Amino acid sequence: MAISVLSVASEAYPLVKTGGLGDVVGALPAALAPYGVEVTTFLPGYPRVLAALEADAAHGKRARTRAWANAGAQGHKGDERGPGLLRAREHDGSGEVSHGLGAPLHRWPDLLGAPAQLLEGEIAGHRLLVLDAPGYFAREGGPYGDPAGRDWDDNWRRFAAFARAAADVAGGAVGGERYDVLHAHDWQSGLAPAYLRFAPPAPEAPRTVMTIHNIAFQGRYDASIFASLALPALAFAVDGVEYYGGVGYLKAGLESADAITTVSPTYAREILSPDFGMGLEGLIRTRQRRVSGIVNGIDTAVWSPSADPSLPARYDAATLDRRAANKRAVEKAFALDVGDGPIFCVVSRLTWQKGMDVLADAIPALVERGARLALLGSGDAWLEQAFRDAAERFPGQVGVRLGYDEALSHLLQAGSDAILIPSRFEPCGLTQLYGLAYGCVPVVARTGGLADTVIHANAAALAAGVATGIQFDTVTYESLVGAIALATDLFADAERWEQIQRAGMAADFSWATSGRRYASLYRELLAA
Ligand code: ADP
Ligand code: GLC
Repeated sequence: MAISVLSVASEAYPLVKTGGLGDVVGALPAALAPYGVEVTTFLPGYPRVLAALEADAAHGKRARTRAWANAGAQGHKGDERGPGLLRAREHDGSGEVSHGLGAPLHRWPDLLGAPAQLLEGEIAGHRLLVLDAPGYFAREGGPYGDPAGRDWDDNWRRFAAFARAAADVAGGAVGGERYDVLHAHDWQSGLAPAYLRFAPPAPEAPRTVMTIHNIAFQGRYDASIFASLALPALAFAVDGVEYYGGVGYLKAGLESADAITTVSPTYAREILSPDFGMGLEGLIRTRQRRVSGIVNGIDTAVWSPSADPSLPARYDAATLDRRAANKRAVEKAFALDVGDGPIFCVVSRLTWQKGMDVLADAIPALVERGARLALLGSGDAWLEQAFRDAAERFPGQVGVRLGYDEALSHLLQAGSDAILIPSRFEPCGLTQLYGLAYGCVPVVARTGGLADTVIHANAAALAAGVATGIQFDTVTYESLVGAIALATDLFADAERWEQIQRAGMAADFSWATSGRRYASLYRELLAA
């Protein structure tokens, strides 16, 4: 019999995405279906998500395929900014739910302080459940903050309510719903395993999995909120939701879940150390037997250069010469001089995690080597300014687009020669995987999922024809410039460069392997 999983997350492509979390949650249902796992995705009822449900109901169609996409100032904690800003859904301010859909599956008259109801829809052909709670989610801005980039003050309550509802749904308290496994993603869902453990809606709770996509975002709040979470007093404890004297949402999930996963084997090891564990290393060490690293795949229905609708020229490993037309389009989009020299691209949140400060410093050296840079990103204001300044200083050689643009991110992978990813830490990273699939050679820091997915072009790997990119050790000016120099040297040898491109394109980063691993993890939990 199929295993039923409720996948609980604050983002899922194509409905809502501020980063890789959205990509992964959006891909999981299709990734797991071949292995006998039926995934239902559970999302907050942001205006965009409800609009998609309403449109589907009106047109009898499947969920929209356009992303609500914007990285915002701080990526995961980011806000929707720039073009595509959403209007909050109209409602009468009474906090009463109102919508143009059919009967809800369930109503909560008072879900931690506001009414809510459960709606049903579809996302990319799979089942979707949505928590419609206007008091929490009918707001202009992004998933986590207002249009100016400030986190909502009541995020603790918004995501506690979301987690409480998820626990009710998975645990069988809500009309007809019942799941074998609740799979929580990141801090926004972290309280769900804790609710199932400390306040289960039914005697037999489902198994729980907590996945860490990024341990830097922890959902840490003052102890005073505990009284409003509707958890029994005993949950405020070292082995419960208590975290350094306050309440920790990710901590609560890690403490309560039956299994913990993170998105690459190397990151699973790294977070055992204080440098990467960010305060949670002790807890993770004590639960180490339950921790595994399962690397993300890519959704080949969305990311395939031979079928990508956003490209001027589609291609595969046998027709790499067609990339030239895409390169011309990149030059045009980023106002770069036309030329045959290498174009490095960046598609990233502009933050410290991503090493963007070091990259900004390295731009003069990159230009000096005859290379060009096309950067697409948004994030910290001072980094945005640094890149704006660089574009002004090096017209024709440095092009910068600040903002979030899904189609442009595809074009950059298809038309640039290499993608720079100098992350200080990177749980998995998806842009290097897209680079590999698109023949856009990844130049990456040797950390987390970047270390696990790119084969460094040292002499032996080149001789064996297996190199797929370039890795460097520490995120410093010297090592990044060294990696850029190595890339430009390799690029100058066209035959060798194509060999690296082809090796990357031949690598399998589909979900096949990882889908199977999640399925066997669920099976082990259910057998235990
Ligand atoms: P993270 O989730 O830490 O930001 P990932 O590499 O896992 O890093 O995922 C980032 C995702 O967001 C990728 O799909 C990438 O293409 C996308 N992305 C990041 N910045 C932008 C941007 N400015 N415009 C379009 N897509 C972006
Ligand atoms: C997080 C990480 C990124 C990972 C993504 C999806 O945002 O920063 O490395 O790829 O989640 O798991």
